[in-house]
Formats: sequence, structure tokens, C-alpha cells
Amino acid sequence: MDSLPRTLPSSWYRSAPLYQLERRGVFLKAWYLLGPVTRFEIVGEGVDYEIAGVKLVARRTSDEEGAIAVFGEDGTELRSHLTSTGLIFSTISDAAPTFEEFFPELEPLLATVDFTKLPYRKSIKYEGKFNWKTMVDGYQECLHCQYTHPSFSVYYPPTTYAVENHPKSNFSRHIADPEKRDDGLFLYFFPNCTLNVYGGGMSSFRVCPTDDPNVTRMEFDYYHQGVGDVFERYYQFVRQVAMEDFELCEKAQENLLRGVYETGILNPVKETGVAFYQQRVLEQVFEQHEKEETAAAVHIRTDSAVETPTTIEPTAA
Ligand SMILES: [Fe+2]
Repeated sequence: MDSLPRTLPSSWYRSAPLYQLERRGVFLKAWYLLGPVTRFEIVGEGVDYEIAGVKLVARRTSDEEGAIAVFGEDGTELRSHLTSTGLIFSTISDAAPTFEEFFPELEPLLATVDFTKLPYRKSIKYEGKFNWKTMVDGYQECLHCQYTHPSFSVYYPPTTYAVENHPKSNFSRHIADPEKRDDGLFLYFFPNCTLNVYGGGMSSFRVCPTDDPNVTRMEFDYYHQGVGDVFERYYQFVRQVAMEDFELCEKAQENLLRGVYETGILNPVKETGVAFYQQRVLEQVFEQHEKEETAAAVHIRTDSAVETPTTIEPTAA
């Protein structure tokens, strides 16, 4: 049992100070999928985002293809990246590395889908009573699928479901059926974005933490080649799955708050996606904590030097 991966402690799902460490150590250092170019059709019209308390706006700046810029609340331009087949990613702070350093192996995979051919249809957002990691835990495994998603499981049997992790590249690929690897593209981008291409459409969602570790805002964007009934059927199906996950997360968070469960083991085959991203959160939070402790210690030493100037004062006296 010692060799099995373990979960993060339940306290990490309900602690406000811990979330602030995640914010500085994880979120400010990451890249975020904002959407395909079709999300930004109208020149000058801004699309607003808020990620870990940072507000940003993305807008098309001219008719030229791919002329999309992202700005922070104070109007300064944030670093963004347009992939070869039309996806826009952005940073929210200078603390993030370059796109190539964050996602070194991602672009060839994204190049397999032409995202410029997926028209934007609609967005919705709402809050749920759960930690952001409660939702990502669920996305990163499909052990819950047969029980929670009976309609989804007919199309994507949990017995064949697999997750391929790319730890050096900050993403996971979900393979619903290894026999049909090209049937759809399901990706998780560390820490909180997903992209789900299938059935002629695409959904992309962001799991947005708030200052309350027990409240998370879910934001969904939907794209589809079809209109009218064709889109509506797709939309009803994906909303059904999303609401089933939402209810599961609220129930899981209630249990995390009861204080009975502390930590557990992860299935070494079926929960590698959970182990991968939780390990990354753990490392980055520890690293951030250590950095801040060291900085605080240096600060105290500097302060005491200033407060005891007697050794250098005598000459002036
Ligand atoms: Fe689910």
C-alpha cells in the first residue's frame, strides 16, 4: 500500500490560506486556454475572464486572422499565444514561464484539429459549493462515470477509458476508446482548463477558484458546426453530463467538510490523471511556501540590522 499514490489531504480542499498559496504558487505561474479564434469574432468586442482573482479581457484588434490581444485590468497587455490551428492561450502574470516552456509537447496534438471551423454558440457560468480541486479530481478519472453518467457511459464505456499524462508538458489526454484514438479530443490543461471535442462540437470549461475555498465558479463555452436542433441535442447531452458532475462535486465537498476523511490512496491504473495533477499542485505549493519562508527570514534579518544601528553610529556622534 505504501507504493500507491496518495491523495492530497482533505484540509487542502477547505483552507483559505492554502488557496492563497495555490494562487501564488500554481495559478500565477500557469497558461490558460481562453478559446478558439471563433470566440472573438467581432473586432473590438471584449470577452471577460477572471482567473484566480485576476481579471482579463481578450479582444480581436483587427480583421486580420489571429489578431487577438489580451489585457489585464490596468490595460497592460498580457502574454498570449495563438496555436497553428487557432487556439488562444494567455498568462495572468509575469510569474509564468514562456508558452513553450509550460506546454513543450502540446502543439503537435492541437494541430490535429482545425479549431477555426468550430463556430461559437454560447457560454454559461455558475458557482458551486466545492473546491476547484474537487471538480478537477472528477475530470481526471472516469471511475465515477458508470455510476454518475449513465448516458455518457453508453457511448464511452469506462472499461476502456484511459488517461495519458504529460507531466513535463502540463496536460493530460483522455482516451475514451483506445481502438478509436481519433474519435474526439479530450484534454486537461494544468491547472484548471479543459477542451472536449466530439460529436461535431466542442466544449471548453474553466474551473475558477474564488477566495472561499468551498466555492468555485464553473465557466463553459460551447462551439458547434450545427445550428438549431443539431446544436440543441449536443447541448442537452453535454449539459446533462456537466450537471451530474456538479451534483457529485457538491456531495463530495460536503463529505470533505465533515472532517472524517483525511487522505486516501489512488487507483494506480485508473486514477493516474488525479495523481499527476495533485502531485504538481503539491510540489508547487511546497516550493512557494519554502520560497516565502526564506524571503520572510531574510526580511527579519534585514529589519533587525536596521533596528540596531549602534555599530555604525559612533563615528557620526
Ligand atoms: Fe464526470
